[in-house]
Amino acid sequence: MQNAGIATLALNWRYLAFEVYPEDLRSAIAGAQVMNYIGLNLTVPHKLLAMDIVDELDETATTWGAVNTIQFEGKTTMGEWRPLREFTDPPRETRARGFNTDAEAITRSLQEDLGMNLQGASVLLLGAGGAGRTAALKLAAEKVARLFIVNRTPNKAEEIGSEIRRRHPEVKVALAYPAEPVDLMLNATSVGLKAADALPFDETQFSLRKVSAVYDMVYDPAETPLCKAAKSFGCRVSNGLGMLLYQGAKALEIWTGCPAPVQEMRRALEKKVYGS
Ligand code: ATR
Repeated sequence: MQNAGIATLALNWRYLAFEVYPEDLRSAIAGAQVMNYIGLNLTVPHKLLAMDIVDELDETATTWGAVNTIQFEGKTTMGEWRPLREFTDPPRETRARGFNTDAEAITRSLQEDLGMNLQGASVLLLGAGGAGRTAALKLAAEKVARLFIVNRTPNKAEEIGSEIRRRHPEVKVALAYPAEPVDLMLNATSVGLKAADALPFDETQFSLRKVSAVYDMVYDPAETPLCKAAKSFGCRVSNGLGMLLYQGAKALEIWTGCPAPVQEMRRALEKKVYGS
């Protein structure tokens, strides 16, 4: 996806993947920095650890409490910090700035892939792990009216519920299945990663009949058990590929300063994940 975007923008850059032990994250970031890398993406479990490692935190990182994108910056002779892409010769002094592009990708994918208008909406969120927390806080920031959070381990849902009540008191939060219909069911659990998985909610307590649209953050398999069941109930349905795409597109925009070629990136991503 990133290399397709880079090629479309005709940049002489490469995007490479490295596996790094959490205890080596600090030296990995420092290594990339001294080699004048343009930037990095980080995934689980590095997103939280990087908060204490980078030199600067963008507002997106402080708001969502996690770093998934780093941009390296250099100091100009005038003493100004600028992205590394703007330097012809490597700057003497560099620093790492952390961003979060995950939260924005959630709402962009909900809007573009599902046509969701979140303001005033009623949402059932399944899952209260890292992805569930970011989704819950972002939905609240987008001014959903009601948020129902259900998780296998209830105290994690309770913690997120308290955080939302504190940060967004206008949003009505409940930690149970809704009795009334909802506009959106959002699956942020990892249930569905295996085609044989059960549905990520308790069918004795809630029915897809009460749901207009279903978003499953899982994207592989392309049609998760939840997506399949939701279609049979006539819901609008999307899997989570758009979320992966848009967090990457935003990262590329940070590194390049240019709009990302989203269609080319989507095609490459679909080919990689689904082979077509
Ligand atoms: P991520 O960063 O992708 O959110 P995570 O923080 O490990 O990953 O969260 C995984 C989510 O899937 C959690 O909500 C987890 O529920 P618990 O908090 O009870 O662990 C949920 N999950 C994983 N396996 C599950 C299962 N078999 N049934 C129900 N929920 C499950």
